[in-house]
Amino acid sequence: MAFSDLNDNVIAQVRQAADIVDFVGQVTPLKLAGKSYKGLCPFHREKTPSFTVDRGKGLFHCFGCGAGGDVFKFLSMTERFNFPEAVEYVAARVGIELPKKKRTAKENDKEDLLEVLDEASEAFHQALGWGDNVAKRYLDERGVAHDIVTKYGFGYAPDSWDYILTRLSRKHGEKKLESVGLAMPRKTGNGFYDRFRNRLMIPIHNESGTIVGFGGRSLDGSDPKYLNSPESDVFNKSRLLYNLHRSKDAMRRKDRAILVEGYFDAIAIDHAGVPGVVASMGTSLTSGQASLLRRFTTNVVIAYDGDNAGRNATLRAAPVLLAAGLNVSALDLRGEKDPDTVVQKFGVDRFLELLSNATDIFEFGLGEWAGDVAKLTGREKSERVEHFIPLLSAVSDPVVRNDAAQRIADAFRLEFQTVWSRVRGKASTPTDRERQPLGQPGSAEKTILIAAIQGKLTAPDLARLREEYFEEPGKALFSIMKDALMSGAPIDFQQVATHLRGEAELNLLSELSLSEDIDDQTLQRIDENLRPMERAYLERRNLEIQRDIAEAQRQGDGNREDELVAEKMRISRMLNEAK
Ligand code: UTP
Ligand code: MN
Repeated sequence: MAFSDLNDNVIAQVRQAADIVDFVGQVTPLKLAGKSYKGLCPFHREKTPSFTVDRGKGLFHCFGCGAGGDVFKFLSMTERFNFPEAVEYVAARVGIELPKKKRTAKENDKEDLLEVLDEASEAFHQALGWGDNVAKRYLDERGVAHDIVTKYGFGYAPDSWDYILTRLSRKHGEKKLESVGLAMPRKTGNGFYDRFRNRLMIPIHNESGTIVGFGGRSLDGSDPKYLNSPESDVFNKSRLLYNLHRSKDAMRRKDRAILVEGYFDAIAIDHAGVPGVVASMGTSLTSGQASLLRRFTTNVVIAYDGDNAGRNATLRAAPVLLAAGLNVSALDLRGEKDPDTVVQKFGVDRFLELLSNATDIFEFGLGEWAGDVAKLTGREKSERVEHFIPLLSAVSDPVVRNDAAQRIADAFRLEFQTVWSRVRGKASTPTDRERQPLGQPGSAEKTILIAAIQGKLTAPDLARLREEYFEEPGKALFSIMKDALMSGAPIDFQQVATHLRGEAELNLLSELSLSEDIDDQTLQRIDENLRPMERAYLERRNLEIQRDIAEAQRQGDGNREDELVAEKMRISRMLNEAK
């Protein structure tokens, strides 16, 4: 929670005062190499260091995985801080006092609600301990050991209409109990009653470990099997993953998450010491949950239930994960009900074995939909192939997508094009990337910007640069640095960072400014980079003018038309020269 009032000035001041090498060095060892420091990237696995940190510029960048930014970005990635939290943390470490902000009423409310939930959890936990009760007997029958009960904070909502109301309403008021979903208004209009009755209570935490809600398991066979906290200011199921706070560190370390459906699946696996497990809590996986995962890992293994419903849910969840940029594989439970059952019946080693046999999601899909290809009619094949389209369309890496489409075509004994033509959003074919001239990291645009930043462009080449040649985020970066670049003044990267608004811009800045010195060979061929950028711009402009001319004609604006035609001729001439 942020308690200070941050403005650009303060942020810049804190950034200046922080030694990024110091902060990064606590996470990964760094060695001075030339002008900057190098180390093994904490965000992906690598054997040779491609992670670069520059003290003067206050920036880091990994040329392996592309992570980059300033000290705040680094802390937000390693410590799970949001931006204001990162600024506060650094400020405290470097001894800068931040201007205080009054807590808003809303924040106060939220803190209050969280306190209610925490106290409720304690009350449920106590009730579980009292004498002989259904929940205790249920746990015994299920073979749930006492250490699990404590570790996961289980509780019991007694079979009563007002257990929680009696315990908490005097202190917090009934309204507050209602807003966190613990109490419900009586139908008759006056008074409240407990939402959770006669249920085993499983607390659900947010990623920082604060209780935000409960899943209450029915103990007498009544429906629903799990009654969850309703959506509220603090409980937003589509942005929560059960067990994330316990598993996020391991998830990052292992660069792998295991995604299960049920609370008990997560608990069985987590308690057995398998790192990185979270539960999606039954309902279909949301993009919010996927991006939550993406902050900690790039690889997800789906370990949903082994029945038809579970396998279908696997294939529905996969595109959501793929679209978030995750690599997705899935586990085949070989007829067992769910991961919890596997661990109970055969022990955790069996689960680990299944885990090591997890297959890429496209393989999994082929197992589901292409097992009987020889027997299919054309129409049936067509329907089956259609099942893969959401998966294929969700993959953003063109190479991966191409490869998967090829495998699907092969499996169905079809031409590649037959499958490929159905894939949506396939515009960025690999050729787009291959068009990049020279061997520099990235596009022509990057080469030019790197050369400019390193002060290696000749004056005539510099004079050729126009903001319009660049695409975002390069465009924004160029426009901020333009004056300094043109005048040959040294660039104050800390200052530039302060002007940036987006993550993509900061990332590009770190990459460009920490790139290796550009070599002479590349410099001699700079024209090969500049020309296509100029040409692309001129062609774009040409089309625009064409449209404007038509518009001017429609409006009968002769003067404007003349101007535009003159410009069009100028551009045509330039285009001819640029060829
Ligand atoms: P399961 O029924 O597979 O849960 O539903 P489970 O954890 O294996 O249940 P046990 O082992 O029988 O106790 C998967 C998840 O779907 C959500 C819960 O999060 C559950 O853990 N769910 C299920 C609900 O929210 N409501 C329901 O009525 C059922
Ligand atoms: Mn289950």
